[in-house]
Amino acid sequence: MAQKIVVASGKGGVGKSSAVCGLCRCLTDMGKNVLVMDFDIGLRGLDLIFDVSDQVVFDWGDIILGRCELDKALISADGATLIAAPRIFAQEFTKDTISRILEILDPLFDYILLDAPAGISKGLYLAACCADRALIVSTPDNVCVRCGSLTAEKLLELGINDIRLIINRFKKRPVVQGRLLNIDDVIDSAGVQLIGVIPEDSEVMYSLANGERLSSRSFAHEALVKIAGRINGENIPLDISALP
Ligand SMILES: Nc1ncnc2c1ncn2[C@@H]1O[C@H](COP(=O)(O)OP(=O)(O)O)[C@@H](O)[C@H]1O
Ligand SMILES: [Mg+2]
Repeated sequence: MAQKIVVASGKGGVGKSSAVCGLCRCLTDMGKNVLVMDFDIGLRGLDLIFDVSDQVVFDWGDIILGRCELDKALISADGATLIAAPRIFAQEFTKDTISRILEILDPLFDYILLDAPAGISKGLYLAACCADRALIVSTPDNVCVRCGSLTAEKLLELGINDIRLIINRFKKRPVVQGRLLNIDDVIDSAGVQLIGVIPEDSEVMYSLANGERLSSRSFAHEALVKIAGRINGENIPLDISALP
């Protein structure tokens, strides 16, 4: 049975899809079988991030609408499997139809990462309706943190109790200068337990832009390896003082 993890946020552009891609690669490096499913209906991006957009013929919407068999929408993506998001919303996209797809895929994978759109929307509901766990991604600023907290509340209402926080794009200097929230402030305001902190790292943007893997020497990669280990149940201490 796969662990189904929805990756959500209050605001857009905080690094959900980057985190999904990075965590997917770390989990596959650990020998896990991983499926990533894009739920950003109308604004899909994971296929570009994995550099497989030329292979996308069908998406999960096509499966639901009976336009293709399920296997036709599965794309090999760097050791993992990807299903793209539909370009247009349809009334047929419901908890029942999504569940039917996930029930078939469940036995085939160790992890299914569900990349949600930003905020509280039908897309979030569809991504979360079958999830066992959630990761909320937030940058360390007031607005993102508050909206992340509200999104976590919504996920709790949907019955997801295991919700953890990823603080992304962390920069030490403005925190030391008192110009950005520190990690304790973020955790307190979000009201969600921390699973890891990913530093600001320009390597993320370059690797995303070129559909490449993050360099194993990059700070972001180091952070993602630790988060993937914690997701997988390993006891890896959160050493905030070691952050760059
Ligand atoms: N840790 C990071 N350091 C620097 N840039 C980042 C980091 N994480 C994400 N980004 C950049 O932020 C932008 C938005 O990321 P993305 O993953 O598409 O966000 P979302 O899926 O939440 O909308 C991208 O340009 C990406 O390169
Ligand atoms: Mg995204």
